[in-house]
Amino acid sequence: MTKGRSRLARRVTLKDKHIVTRMMDLASGLPDVIKLGRGDPDLDTPQHIVRAGQEALASGATHYTHPLGLPELRQAIAENIAEHGGARYAPEDIVVTPGGQQAMFIIALGLLDPGDELLMPCPGYNPYLQAAELTEATLVNIRMTRATNFTLTAELVREHVTPRSKVLTLINPGNPTGTVIPPDEVARICEVAREHDLIVVSDEIYARITYDGATVQPVAALPGMRERTFTLSGVSKAYAMTGWRVGYFAGPPDLMPALAEIHHALAISTSAVGQHAALAALTGPQECVEEMRVTYDERRRALCEGLTEMGVPFAEPQGAFYVYAKVAETGVGATEFCERLLAEGRVMIFPGKIYGDYTDDYARLSLTQSVPRIQEALGRMAKVVEAIRQERSVA
Ligand SMILES: Cc1ncc(COP(=O)(O)O)c(C=O)c1O
Repeated sequence: MTKGRSRLARRVTLKDKHIVTRMMDLASGLPDVIKLGRGDPDLDTPQHIVRAGQEALASGATHYTHPLGLPELRQAIAENIAEHGGARYAPEDIVVTPGGQQAMFIIALGLLDPGDELLMPCPGYNPYLQAAELTEATLVNIRMTRATNFTLTAELVREHVTPRSKVLTLINPGNPTGTVIPPDEVARICEVAREHDLIVVSDEIYARITYDGATVQPVAALPGMRERTFTLSGVSKAYAMTGWRVGYFAGPPDLMPALAEIHHALAISTSAVGQHAALAALTGPQECVEEMRVTYDERRRALCEGLTEMGVPFAEPQGAFYVYAKVAETGVGATEFCERLLAEGRVMIFPGKIYGDYTDDYARLSLTQSVPRIQEALGRMAKVVEAIRQERSVA
């Protein structure tokens, strides 16, 4: 090794353990931690989907599949996208990936050169930040505020566009914010994308989980957008299938072959059993999706009510299964608050800093526990908040 030369590549900036890993390590040594951290539903994958996976295994689905994914699954994905008001995709313009997560990196590797700008709503789902880092693209954070309920606006995008801007990420409904961009605002954002020749990565993985009648406008279905949009989604969230690792992206026919080859090089193909289960999810009974949505909605109400009682403000959650709360209102920064809540209250929530919260004011709480457990978590949180407030009043 050359003296003084870093053993890690220069592009790797996240050199220490990620805060999520640190918190998980800490939690593993504590009894009875209530986990409202990760976006992993506690609900089980519906039985008919599990059975389809078991049957697929029993009948020999133990091999690589077509690199792009099972043809019948890609057909089902195309139909599912169209059924929900999305663009009409041919199965060959869809790639099934090991989770939507990998799709983000395939798209970034395929589109971004060093110095190209990736416009990213901030706070936003952090792997997109890492995708920018690993491709040496320039990350441009578009800071959203409570004034727009943490949703992206066309005006904000316009303010951040430069001649180097190449890709714009939309996450709708948002993670970590749980907010939905109103459909007419999505249309206005797309106008800016067309004007400035931006490629849009539209992450619609939470689109089936919305509340109070909020609707998600699929980006690629808007005029002039199909040829400049990658639609990214998967079965993890709507069907409680995080562990099966099946996601997908669909995009413009001229770009998909190159991106499909990156996927092929990274994964060969997505797990066969997961794909058969995903096929059952998309083509089988859909009541389970609505049942789970109603369950999250009940939890959302319970959590929001408890936070309000505690005097902790939050962004109005209209989708996904998160509440983005201004825990700094309790008197300490959000990162310190999350650490104390875990150590003293045995409740795990994640600081907004993970998602690019530039103020260290916010934390994300996931709706991934039952209402009684959420209420228990709120009780524990109230005690920690009380302790912090008392310390502050003495100091
Ligand atoms: C916004 C968003 N997109 C994509 C993903 C990736 O999910 P998966 O890889 O399980 O499909 C997640 C997971 O939390 C997410 O929150």
